[in-house]
Amino acid sequence: MTLHKVRKAVFPIGGLGTRFLPVTKALPKEMLPVIDKPLIQFVVEEALEAGLEELIFITGRGKEAIENHFDTAFELERMLYDRGKLRVLADVKQCSLEPGCASYIRQQEPKGLGHAVWCARHLVGNEPFAVLLADELILGAKMPAIAELLQTCEGEGNSIAVTEVPYEHVSRYGILAHAARQGMICTAHDIVEKPKPEEAPSQTAVIGRYILSPRIFGYLEQQKPTSSGEIQLTNAIACMLKDGTPLTGVYVSGRRFDCGARDGIVAATLFRALQDAALAPIVRESIKVFDSNERAL
Ligand code: G1P
Repeated sequence: MTLHKVRKAVFPIGGLGTRFLPVTKALPKEMLPVIDKPLIQFVVEEALEAGLEELIFITGRGKEAIENHFDTAFELERMLYDRGKLRVLADVKQCSLEPGCASYIRQQEPKGLGHAVWCARHLVGNEPFAVLLADELILGAKMPAIAELLQTCEGEGNSIAVTEVPYEHVSRYGILAHAARQGMICTAHDIVEKPKPEEAPSQTAVIGRYILSPRIFGYLEQQKPTSSGEIQLTNAIACMLKDGTPLTGVYVSGRRFDCGARDGIVAATLFRALQDAALAPIVRESIKVFDSNERAL
């Protein structure tokens, strides 16, 4: 088998973000900030740091702000330069992607994660590729989470970032049935999308980072939509696994925040603030004051 270097990263960003309405009425959920950086920028930086070269965004109506975010902002940059605000200018410039590295495809209808990934088939072609979900934020890791997947399974096709979640949360995630964990990895026997807790094969949840073989596109093509009209990526991966393509779960290091929900955004914001010398004392003091005010009520 020819081993391909993984070069391409797919970012499905067509989702509607209904859990965050009304803020996501006019703002893409991927542009929600964790202090001063939008969620999408964290995963793009993760992919670039891991050496991925071609970025494919599967976008949708109302997501133009994301394209603008990664574009050059000529007037703004000129103004910051003229005013000598060079540190901010460097931060702004860092968002501009190298010319020719980013492609944007419209997913015309919100038909689910599997359909979004399938929309990338022509740009991905016949090579393994990465998928990164912007609402899963992994901070403070030894290396970019997607690089941990690449390191473990480069060239072999399918590997997925996983973590253990509480029993009552398994119905939010893709869940693996797997053999005993060996260090940072486990071998999967099956994968099921959002099972009821009592039916879940484990508490090992998929957390939004995938390295996939291009064979996935054939499996996605054959998937029937669920009752809500979505094509599930998890179900296509399950079919591929049944046909004999191995699937490895990788327990990535670092702290992971489910920023598809409000509690995740709040926790990630606190985590970043507590790591910032200027913000940490304010957070600590505010919590002390608010807490004692609350008790006094
Ligand atoms: C998607 C996947 C699910 C995965 C999750 C990670 O679900 O379908 O398997 O565990 O992302 O965040 P979503 O959160 O888009 O409903």
